[in-house]
Amino acid sequence: MTKVGFFDSGVGGRCILNAFLSICPDAKTIYLSDSAHCPYGNRTANEVRTFTEKFVVELIYSGCEIIVIACNTATAASIEYLRKKYPSIKFVGLEPAIKTAAKETRTNTVAVLATQGTFEGRLYKETKSQYASNINVIEVVAQDFVVEVEKLPPGGIAAITGEQKERLYKVVGEKINPLLAAGADMIVLGCTHFPHLKDIIENICNKRAQVIDSSEAVARHIMELYKCQ
Ligand code: DGL
Repeated sequence: MTKVGFFDSGVGGRCILNAFLSICPDAKTIYLSDSAHCPYGNRTANEVRTFTEKFVVELIYSGCEIIVIACNTATAASIEYLRKKYPSIKFVGLEPAIKTAAKETRTNTVAVLATQGTFEGRLYKETKSQYASNINVIEVVAQDFVVEVEKLPPGGIAAITGEQKERLYKVVGEKINPLLAAGADMIVLGCTHFPHLKDIIENICNKRAQVIDSSEAVARHIMELYKCQ
């Protein structure tokens, strides 16, 4: 039976794994994360590629034929390199859903939350210039969100209460409120850590903006590959 490997710097990619398991519950999966080097967002592309490849090799040795780079930053730094070097593996990468946001905006203003590494990658720049050249794109490096998500208990935001929750609302609100004030009606979660904060982001948006989380779309794509094996 085909095994599907998932890799992220930390817990972020679990939202992709969970979305995949919810539509393919019997799939054999392996999830690896690089907790020793997390976060990746401010590291150089070379560094991220080196770390990522080490885990990809481990997943290949474990028998994975489909490997999901469940991290926008690691995808930006390494997906082309990995596809060339390991042609027998089917790689799935993550990139901010700016195309969807550009198509659906009514205010002509979209916001993308991601890491510095993702914004600097060729993939993001090309997609942006291809699909959003006439759109006002507000780019926000939200590295602090990655750190907050890594600190959450296993139950995620549902497991925190009181002061802890209030503090997290404040941290998230400081990034989201200015985007709403600037007229953004689409907020793209361009890092796999951010869907872990989705309920908070949506509550802050209070329907003034749509939060775009591509986890389910990516999961459906993995399932197509999985069925074809
Ligand atoms: N989940 C990674 C991403 O999608 C996290 C980035 C980090 O480790 O800084 O970009």
